[in-house]
Amino acid sequence: MNWLTNTLGTSIGKKLMMAVTGLAFIGFLTVHLAGNLTLYGGPDSFNSYAEHLHALGPLVIIFEWGLMLLALVHILTGTFLYFQNLAARPLRYSVNKRGGGRTLGSATMPYTGVLILLFVIFHLANFRFIDASHASLFQVVSGAFAHPLYVGIYVFAMAVVAIHVSHGFWSLFQSLGLNHPKYMPFLRGLGIVVSLIFGLGFGFLPIYISFIA
Ligand code: HEM
Repeated sequence: MNWLTNTLGTSIGKKLMMAVTGLAFIGFLTVHLAGNLTLYGGPDSFNSYAEHLHALGPLVIIFEWGLMLLALVHILTGTFLYFQNLAARPLRYSVNKRGGGRTLGSATMPYTGVLILLFVIFHLANFRFIDASHASLFQVVSGAFAHPLYVGIYVFAMAVVAIHVSHGFWSLFQSLGLNHPKYMPFLRGLGIVVSLIFGLGFGFLPIYISFIA
């Protein structure tokens, strides 16, 4: 226990927390994208997916509280590290020192993080905390994407998610100590592939629902 509090009190410990919670979010986004792909199958396929999900009952509530806790740890730790790096300027560019170079993703992590938080609040207000007693979930989603403004917001937000993940994915392996020079180019490439899958996979859905379906 003492070891745990000592480790989490250090910068390395905090980066480790960012890495573990970030990895959990990548897992969540993978499952969420897989579920949302049923939108391509039309109302029946998506509503049936939603019904199966909701049938899990208390498990969903536990999962949601778990996600909330992860988000809280990720946001608070990220904010702390941001201000710590700001106060100790020589440490500020530690990302570069780790051999990754400065990329759009690494240079914008705090800003894309804030935008994703704002998007998730907007997203939950649209799709999660709603009265769905008079409409199916497919009707809720297709109703939202009937507005070009919503489509624009979602496409922009998915680009932001992709940029955040493009650096976060690679960086989390560094924080976990898996930064052997032999594997780094592969992990960097994999990070770009994963971010493209999220960006295009989620980003094309509103366009499809709005203009094609
Ligand atoms: C086109 C993209 C997306 C669509 C169409 C979409 C759709 C949905 C829908 C319909 C729900 C409600 C599910 C339900 O009530 O069972 C939901 C929940 C949620 N979405 Fe998304 N989503 C998208 C992208 C994202 C992204 C990129 C994130 C995170 C950055 C995200 C985070 C969440 C969260 C945290 C929940 C609540 C999960 C829960 O209550 O179990 N979504 N989404």
